[in-house]
Amino acid sequence: MSDSPNWSALRKDFPILDQQVHGQPLIYFDNAATSQKPRAVIDALVHYYEHDNANVHRGIHELSNRATTAYEAARARAAKFINARSADEIVFTRGTTEGINLVANSWGTKNLKSGDVILLTEMEHHSNLVPWQLLAQRTGAKLAYLPVNGDEALLDMSKLDSLLTRQVKIFAMVHISNSMGTVNPVAELCERARKLGITTLVDAAQSAGHMPVDVQAIGCDFLAFSGHKICGPTGIGVLHGRQELLDAMPPYQGGGEMILTVEYHKTEFKKAPHRFEAGTPDISGPIGLHAAMDYLDAIGRENIFRHDQELATCAYEKLAALKNIRLFGPHSPLTPPGRGTESGRAGVVSFLLADVHAHDVVTLADQAGVALRGGHHCTQPLMRRLGVESTARASFYFYNTKAEVDRFVEVVKEIQKFFAQ
Ligand SMILES: Cc1ncc(COP(=O)(O)O)c(C=O)c1O
Repeated sequence: MSDSPNWSALRKDFPILDQQVHGQPLIYFDNAATSQKPRAVIDALVHYYEHDNANVHRGIHELSNRATTAYEAARARAAKFINARSADEIVFTRGTTEGINLVANSWGTKNLKSGDVILLTEMEHHSNLVPWQLLAQRTGAKLAYLPVNGDEALLDMSKLDSLLTRQVKIFAMVHISNSMGTVNPVAELCERARKLGITTLVDAAQSAGHMPVDVQAIGCDFLAFSGHKICGPTGIGVLHGRQELLDAMPPYQGGGEMILTVEYHKTEFKKAPHRFEAGTPDISGPIGLHAAMDYLDAIGRENIFRHDQELATCAYEKLAALKNIRLFGPHSPLTPPGRGTESGRAGVVSFLLADVHAHDVVTLADQAGVALRGGHHCTQPLMRRLGVESTARASFYFYNTKAEVDRFVEVVKEIQKFFAQ
């Protein structure tokens, strides 16, 4: 596709967007929770089930060969999507959460001991926090957190040196915060960790489908993302791990597909990544994900990032002009996506109206056809740190329009008026 995509033509690829909710045109601004699916992805799933459905890696018949070829082609496509060195660095998971749990259980249990430190940031999603807490409880390791600077939710980089000690064994960080919209300088964070021999993991749930993500440029050891947030199906995700690390890690789950030979008292396992994919995998998931990755890269993720940001900036500035509103996240957008050493705002705007609960904002917005998200966004510790219970959040994607942002701001004003009565 050209440098400037035809956004309104692309929007037509999403049949779900063409509907009314409570008698109003749907405005879907809950993209950080999950994205909508283009016709190309839906068609790939239907085609697979209508023509090629069979189990993978075990049959010698035609359908099984087709299913296996499509499954492994999706792995190679995922490697290209994030510039991994090879398809062997790609493990299919259920999503970001399972990818992080896999690393915490397999790599973590093998490599951590009492007194070691797991470094996180204060803005982590529960899925990049709870697995590490469980690991800390099992091993006696401790957790430490790189702080945020307040409502602007930028990482306080001045604290990094004192936190990156020799005791730190892994530094796990979110690329784009789902609740604040902060883009973190992950390449810089990984570089600083690498110099001290610290293993790194990047939670790319919010970035993989919204900006170019290159694991070699970021320099991380592990990176996880979810298919459903990048126009793919639910139930499929990708864990990238550096080959040497994956090869040295014990299995995460046992069962069929991940073995070479099994005897009654011992088993020889396949090499990575198959060692980590026990049982019949989600087969249609990678096939749908393959179509989603092709679709996004035909648009260009730099273009998507720019479009997300234009909408978020428009929303942020219009909301900032209102009275009695508290806005969260970086004041400035990050344009262009950068090399992983800069911070700034992505396509997410989080806010609170004075004296109005975020759930009331979301409920009233829904009546006007606008789908927002209200709550702690699976970042309860961050909410507590900022002294709030919840926020309302609008999160954008390339099929959203400026007209939708204008309507959303009007709806927020109407909600303010309603509660001022
Ligand atoms: C930043 C971040 N990390 C991790 C996750 C977990 O993703 P999933 O529920 O797809 O495993 C999410 C989901 O919202 C997220 O936003």
